[in-house]
Formats: sequence, structure tokens, C-alpha cells
Amino acid sequence: MSFLSALAQKNSGRLPVWFMRQAGRYLPEYQALRKKYDFRTMSHDPKLICETTMTPFARYDLDGAIMFSDILTCLEYMGSAFHFGADGPVLEDHGPQILSRLTPLNPSQDMAFVGEGIRLAKKELGSKPLIGFAGAPFTLISYLVEGGTSREFTDTRMFIYERPEEFQKTLNLLGESIAEYLLYQISCGADAVQIFDSWVGILPHTVYKDLVAPTMSKLITKVKSAGKPVILYSQPTSHLVKTLSEFAPTALSVDWRESLSDVVNKIKPENVPTLQGNLDPIVTTLEWDKAKPYVVELLEEVSRLNLRKQYIFNVGHGVTPETKWETLGSIINFVHEYKI
Ligand code: CP3
Repeated sequence: MSFLSALAQKNSGRLPVWFMRQAGRYLPEYQALRKKYDFRTMSHDPKLICETTMTPFARYDLDGAIMFSDILTCLEYMGSAFHFGADGPVLEDHGPQILSRLTPLNPSQDMAFVGEGIRLAKKELGSKPLIGFAGAPFTLISYLVEGGTSREFTDTRMFIYERPEEFQKTLNLLGESIAEYLLYQISCGADAVQIFDSWVGILPHTVYKDLVAPTMSKLITKVKSAGKPVILYSQPTSHLVKTLSEFAPTALSVDWRESLSDVVNKIKPENVPTLQGNLDPIVTTLEWDKAKPYVVELLEEVSRLNLRKQYIFNVGHGVTPETKWETLGSIINFVHEYKI
């Protein structure tokens, strides 16, 4: 249970490890499932959600499982379904005009397959914790406006400056729906939840603080009221760290560009949450002998910062299809055996 102890800032056992996208394409077991089923089938069938969530556990002694789904899955029930094209997700109905047509999510009705997937995975996991998740409102809006992943998010940023009130109204609607969705996941057995704000780093600090922060603060406070840990992931957000820490998430998941010392230095000492991260995911594509110095460097920094009770090893973004599964295994063993 070192994962939950670290979230409570009380870990005295081994350092916990899990990886974002740990149930992904680098694993032969995942590839085999994807040959049989498309992504939508895999993420809508409770048995397949459970089976995919469990794929990395046949190989690794991980300290947490992340439920198999996607941050975009819920949007289908709010007004815009997606599929994967050659360059990533494609939202079938998108553009600023769709924002005024979004309808609130009713998770227990619309997404009962996720709840059932969580219940099945919990049975398989025994005492290992299950992590639920959702996308943050800004990142979801960026997909709804752009129709996919974008480099510059120009349309989203134009929309924010041109129609700030409509932007905030939509952000709030999404914030309320995401809060309900995460509370639903917790009611079905998720032991902790992570909010992914993958693209929010594009915003200037002032826009974030004025327009986005109020929704994020409400969302995190509401989900935390269920008594389970809330982890906030975002990137690249050096300029937002202080504001993010003021939402008082249980943990901040730090992207690979940042140094953990800089993160700690930006936060009031009494407010430093649990930190998660932040190995460069590309390091997991190397042979273990080449990867090891980077893992050691990160663990030495954790040690220097005295974070041993409140640290979770992870990558600074998701592991990639090029990740070597053998290297991931060596990293897990090394972190577990590392004495700090
Ligand atoms: O293993 C896990 O982490 C759990 C499942 C999970 C997936 N996506 C499955 C997935 C999680 C937590 C996500 C989060 C997600 N999805 C984010 C936030 C984190 C991040 O990476 O920034 C975002 C932005 C998405 C949207 C998304 N989904 C993109 C941009 C892509 C295409 C790019 C890519 O890496 O393929 C996906 C696809 C996706 N989501 C796959 C998986 C396993 C690959 C799909 C396939 O099999 O082809």
C-alpha cells in the first residue's frame, strides 16, 4: 500500500511506482488485444476494461493500476464522440459552436460500463490500489474546439480571448460533470483519482488564474470531499506551479522538463504536496544500462529534497509505444530496492 501511504505523506516502505499509459501499446499483451478489438470496444466493455487494466500486472510488481479508458471517452455522452485516426484522436463534432450544445454528464447512467469495469478490476487487484481518472476541463475544451491534438491550440486561444464568458461557462459545465464522474468512479471503488490537464501549459499565467483556476479549485475541493486522494497532472506548467499547489491537490504529477527542486521551491513549505514523476518517458525506450543513470539522478534528487515519505515514481508524461518493456521492469525493481 506504499502508493496510498505516499499520498498520505506517510510512506516508510519501498518507493511506490506506476506509469502513466502503463496499459498501452509497448506491451505485447495490449497489442494482441488491439488486434482483436478496436479502442472503443476495449474501453466500453467492462470485462475488456478490466483485462486491459490488468495487462501490465502479469509482468510487473506495480504499486497501482490505472483503469483503462481515455480522457475523451466521456465526451461522447456530452455531445461529441471520437475515434482514432492516423494522427491521434478525431472528434467527430467539434469547433467553438459545439460548446454551447454540450449536455451535462450523468455518469451512473451514461458510463455504467466504467463503473462495472472498476468493480471487476478491483476484484482482480486484491489489495493493490486502483486509480481512476478524467481529463481536466481546459484540456477537454481544447479537444472539443480543435477536433484533435493540436500544436498551438490557436482556435481554442482565440475563443478564450474573444468569448471569455462563454469559455468560463463551458469550463464550469465540464468541471461539474468531471467532478460527478470522478465521484462516481470513487463510489465504484477507485482508491485515488488523477486529473489530466495535458495541454493547459499553453495558457499565460494571468489567463489561467482569472479564467481556469476557479473551476479547477472547485473541482478539486469537491472531489477531495469524498475522502480519496486527488492527483493533478499538467504540463508544461512551471509558470503555474504555485497556483496549482493552492488548489491543495493531494499530489502534483510533475512533467519531465521540470526539476523537482524548482517545484518544491515555488511552493510554501507547509503546502508541498506529494510529488509524482518525473522521468523523461523517452528514457524508458533505452536499454537499462543507458536508462539507469537518469533513474539514479532522479532518486538522488528525491533523497536530497527529503521527499521519501511523499514521493511516487512515475514518468513525466505517458510511456510511449517505443518503450522497452524489459527496461520498465528493470526500473521498477531498481526503484523498489533503492534505499533513501
Ligand atoms: O494506461 C493508462 O494510462 C490508462 C489509460 C489512458 C489512455 N489514455 C489510454 C490510451 C489514459 C490515462 C489516457 C489519458 C489521455 N488520453 C490523455 C492525458 C494524458 C496524456 O497523455 O497527456 C490524453 C491527452 C489522451 C488523448 C489521447 N488518447 C491521445 C492524444 C491519444 C493518441 C496518442 C497516442 O498516444 O496514441 C490517445 C490514444 C490512447 N489512449 C491509447 C491508449 C492505450 C492508444 C490507442 C491505441 O491503441 O491505438
